[in-house]
Amino acid sequence: MRLLITGGLGLLGKEIARVFDRSTGIRTTDVEEWDVTDPAACRREVDGFRPDVVIHCAAYTAVDRAESDVALANRLNVEGTRNVARACRERGALMVTFGTDYIFDGTSSRPYREEDAANPLSVYGKTKWAAEEALREVGGDHLLVRTQWMFGPAGKNFIRTILEKARRGETLRVASDQVGCPTFSGDLADAVRNLLGARARGTVHFSSEGETSWFDLARYVLDRCGLPAALLSPARTRDLPYPAPRPAYGVLSKEKYRLITGISPRPWEEAVAEYLERIAPERGMR
Ligand SMILES: NC(=O)c1ccc[n+]([C@@H]2O[C@H](COP(=O)([O-])OP(=O)(O)OC[C@H]3O[C@@H](n4cnc5c(N)ncnc54)[C@H](OP(=O)(O)O)[C@@H]3O)[C@@H](O)[C@H]2O)c1
Repeated sequence: MRLLITGGLGLLGKEIARVFDRSTGIRTTDVEEWDVTDPAACRREVDGFRPDVVIHCAAYTAVDRAESDVALANRLNVEGTRNVARACRERGALMVTFGTDYIFDGTSSRPYREEDAANPLSVYGKTKWAAEEALREVGGDHLLVRTQWMFGPAGKNFIRTILEKARRGETLRVASDQVGCPTFSGDLADAVRNLLGARARGTVHFSSEGETSWFDLARYVLDRCGLPAALLSPARTRDLPYPAPRPAYGVLSKEKYRLITGISPRPWEEAVAEYLERIAPERGMR
């Protein structure tokens, strides 16, 4: 299988590259090699490498900044996705890309299923929904994996930020009224491999199993790392200084993933514990 990756230096792209490393032919790119907002560059890359599968990880992911950076968020998420989708369709390549729970408004009383109605609250959520619609409109062979609350070794994430602040003795006010489920980037990369192995197409949700609030996630992290819980206090989202509105409840149903692959995601606690073990050396724990 010849595999071409966009956004390969990002949180997910790095893990995708690692998990598929032993594929017969793999090319990992980031904005320096392939700017996905440039349609000609998209054609050139896909025509040149002739992949069977393009895994499109490049995206505008700064949720709060997007509120005041609408044009760039749209260009990267919507036009970028459309450009890659068109190049894939022209070449007959399968396109794999990623969506978010932020396309939902958070009013559901049960985990969101793939076919549930979208109603994004934020600019980021709107651009990701428009990207999904562009992908379906182009109409090529595709797999869209929606995920949420990602963390992993590459780059910044909530867990790393909490640890850094706690180590500096900063007090932490964390939202206790947003519920979702953390997702280890390595688990998501494995899930993509499992879905490709099962020849999945269309939209599939993936995260860890279980649910938590950001506050309870932070508490779990501090507890596992032996840091004082007294630094932490629960806050309501509306009292926090974040410009982007977020769904109060965004848990994704993994039923379809389980049916397709026969595999159950692991509980989020297990995934977070493994991540903390992995980053223990950089935390000065070993
Ligand atoms: N992170 C999450 O919690 C989360 C949750 C749900 C869904 N998702 C989705 O999962 C996918 C991967 O997210 P991620 O967190 O891995 O993103 P990320 O860490 O922000 O990585 C995106 C990568 O794309 C690169 N990029 C920026 N502009 C580009 C361009 N014009 N052309 C090509 N590459 C460009 C970025 O480079 P620079 O860093 O230099 O800009 C970065 O390396 C996205 O579709 C995202 O919406 C993420």
